Amino acid sequence: MTHQEFVPSMYSKEIKSGKVSWQAPSNIALVKYWGKKEHQIPANPSISFTLNHCRSTTSLEFQKKEDKSDSFEFDFYFEDKPKQDFKPKIEKFFERIQEYCPYLNDYNFVIRSENSFPHSSGIASSASGMSALALCIMDLESQLDPEMSKEHFQRKASFLARLGSGSASRSIQGDLMIWGKHNEFESSSDLFAIRYEDELHKNFQNFQDTILLVDKGEKQVSSTVGHDLMHGHPFAEERFKQAHENLSKLIPALKSGDYSEFIKIVESEALTLHAMMMSSHPYFILMKPNTLEIINKIWKFREDTGIPACFTLDAGANVHLLYPEDHASKVLEFIKNELVAYCENGHYICDQVGNGAKKL
Ligand code: DP6
Repeated sequence: MTHQEFVPSMYSKEIKSGKVSWQAPSNIALVKYWGKKEHQIPANPSISFTLNHCRSTTSLEFQKKEDKSDSFEFDFYFEDKPKQDFKPKIEKFFERIQEYCPYLNDYNFVIRSENSFPHSSGIASSASGMSALALCIMDLESQLDPEMSKEHFQRKASFLARLGSGSASRSIQGDLMIWGKHNEFESSSDLFAIRYEDELHKNFQNFQDTILLVDKGEKQVSSTVGHDLMHGHPFAEERFKQAHENLSKLIPALKSGDYSEFIKIVESEALTLHAMMMSSHPYFILMKPNTLEIINKIWKFREDTGIPACFTLDAGANVHLLYPEDHASKVLEFIKNELVAYCENGHYICDQVGNGAKKL
């Protein structure tokens, strides 16, 4: 499937060698992407907050090959060590983007990547890692084609990142990103994510996300396997419809600062994602007992204090606790007193909504 808009026609410059570095953040979906079609096309639209502190830093060194017919090669280092187990994912990524970035064949590459969050934290690095790599590739492309507009740069970076990992398409910009066609957002697309242009209501600016690390191990089920389970899932069509509806309802809540509507949608999305996993074949329970303990504590805290703190989950046991900055000190006290006991080794990561990737 070729998308002509993203196939470069010619390059005006000749670049022999160089190095570019980008830092890209992770993101947390409020309406979840769960289920995809061929070519990394999402089965439903999703929306996410871009995070600020959980980031991947990636550099790409490129050297023009002496002989173009030499095979395509790259070395990959993660935290300064050669990392073989990440290579197949990156190889697949390069294969997928080949037709959109034909110049890649002219170079040999060295890729170095590291994360701001510990590798064994149960936080997936594919969104931040793949978007940082896509941005490095676009940086090279923009050197070959200096006329490229900023808009095209960002769109194509998101387009390429999507081909590495769907959620990575939402990590290019911030603070709120929509990926997937939705009829209320004219410029939305299945091919790349767009930034929600209106300013967030002050209630949601600098929104906090504290990630409670319930299980720091490898994911029990990879997202790719999880998405696949939506094929032939008995509730799939209803779920995809619901995601469209939830996005339609969430935007007005974000605009008007309506916490209770926001909480209703976000928590329900998280539980629905897990319900899809519980009701697929084969079925999985991705929460741990401590996940439920934390959810119950958050509900009680909200009821007792009136503070609009809520949770969301990705496809694992960790809990993202979302809350307004104004209430940060009370919520952090609550975390220390009541939630830390349910986190593996007492670990949690404080993050907040951020503005997207940056060039280093
Ligand atoms: C539960 O983007 O990791 O976090 O496209 O197969 O790489 P692939 O999947 P991935 O799926 C993320 C799923 C999710 C929800 C979300 O981020 O929207």
